[in-house]
Order: sequence, then C-alpha cells, then structure tokens
Amino acid sequence: PHILILGAPGAGKGTQSANIAEEFDVEHVTTGDALRSNKEMDISDMDTEYDTPAEYMDQGELVPDEVVNAIVDEALSQADGYVLDGYPRNLEQAEELSEMTDLDVVLYLDVDEEELVHRLTGRRMDPETGEIYHVEYNPPEDPEIEGRLEQREDDTEETVKERLRVYRENTEPVVEHYEEEGVLERVDGNQAPDEVWADVKATIEDAA
Ligand code: AP5
Ligand code: ZN
Repeated sequence: PHILILGAPGAGKGTQSANIAEEFDVEHVTTGDALRSNKEMDISDMDTEYDTPAEYMDQGELVPDEVVNAIVDEALSQADGYVLDGYPRNLEQAEELSEMTDLDVVLYLDVDEEELVHRLTGRRMDPETGEIYHVEYNPPEDPEIEGRLEQREDDTEETVKERLRVYRENTEPVVEHYEEEGVLERVDGNQAPDEVWADVKATIEDAA
C-alpha cells in the first residue's frame, strides 16, 4: 500500500513508520533521514538562501521545496509500497505529491503540544542502527547501546520551539487539506507506543 503518515515534530512518525515498514513490507521513505544523510550536500546552484540543508535544519526551518521534492520523487519512483514520513510539509509540497502518486491511507498522529516537547528533548538515536529511543519512555536495555546514543542536533529546546512554530504555520494547513478531502484517519498519538501501533495497524488494515 501507499501510506502517508502526518504529525507534528515528535508525534511518533518515525517510531510508527518503522512498525509499518516491517508489518506491511513497505519502504520507509523519510525526508528527514534522507536530508540528515545529505546534510552537507551543495544546493547553491538551486538558487536557495543557504548552500546546504544543514543550515536550514539546524535552525528548524524547512529545506527549500525544490530540494525536497526531488528527493521524494526519486524515492517513490523506486518504491513499490511505501510509508511516507516528513512530507508534505506545506501546501505546495502536497500539490507536488498529488502529481507524483496516489495515496491509499493518510494517517494523522494527534499529540498534545507539551508532550511533543518532552518527547523531542528526551529523544536519543543509535547512530549504528538508526533506532529511536527516549531517555524516559523507551531507554535501551543494553548498556553498550546506551553508551553510544546521540541526541539529534535539532532537538534542543530552542530549535524544538521553532520547529513547532514552522509546523503550525506550514504543515497544519496540509492536515486540514486532507481533512477537507475526507481522507484523514486520525489516531490518538498521546497513548503508549504499543497502543498507538495497535490503532495505526487497524486503520491501515481497514483502509488499504
Ligand atoms: P524530520 O526528521 O521529519 O523531523 P520532524 O518532523 O520534526 O519529526 P521528528 O523526527 O522530530 O519526530 P517523529 O514524529 O518522527 O517522532 P519519533 O518517532 O522520532 O525533519 C527534520 C528537519 O528536516 C526539518 O526541521 C526540516 O528542516 C527538514 N525537512 C524534513 N522534511 C522536510 C520537507 N518535507 N520539507 C522541508 N524540509 C524538510 O518520536 C519522538 C520521540 O518520542 C522518540 O524519543 C520516541 O522514542 C518517543 N515516542 C514516540 N512515540 C511515543 C509514544 N507513543 N509515547 C511516548 N514516547 C514516544
Ligand atoms: Zn522522524
């Protein structure tokens, strides 16, 4: 199936996408991870304000559409089924996406704002596996993994605030757009990860 997962920064898109990719045997297409792997890519020929994605990302701003649209177009053309995470983030990207592909399910993880901040500032990543942890909610059992965990550069309190502002301004209209089209499947993302997963799984099974 073609699955889109929407939600604010920290809503659990990456966490649930990993479950979805495994259960439904689809590709996890994530613009955030793709950009983090290419943070120092030279984009100066694209007539952008800054020369690398890093300069946007570390401030919590959106990387220019031209850069991100190309990444998604390429990734989707190579994937049979997919779960798309991190895109579209504004109405222009939503328009682009509608020209690239058709969607079977549009999920929205609904999470309260103070919970988002708590999740983001406590998040840790395993640089070796890409696995997502949380110091409080989901710490690794293996002390070796614990010792190598890293914090994402944009998970500082200041950058988190800016990411949430950018989300409200640019991405909430995208959620409203799918809501108006009548295709938005809302899931209560405030629940524990396993409970969110049960709802996500059931929603995909019903819709796809
Ligand atoms: P991106 O990587 O997409 O970041 P984001 O949207 O801010 O989302 P996050 O990855 O922070 O959160 P998530 O929803 O995946 O949550 P997670 O599962 O990790 O984008 C980063 C940057 O790249 C952007 O700021 C922008 O600069 C650029 N970019 C990316 N896409 C772009 C685009 N399309 N256009 C332009 N620019 C773009 O979970 C968070 C934490 O909570 C973890 O610690 C996890 O363990 C924990 N957790 C998860 N679920 C639960 C739960 N149910 N209960 C308790 N804890 C939980
Ligand atoms: Zn993510």
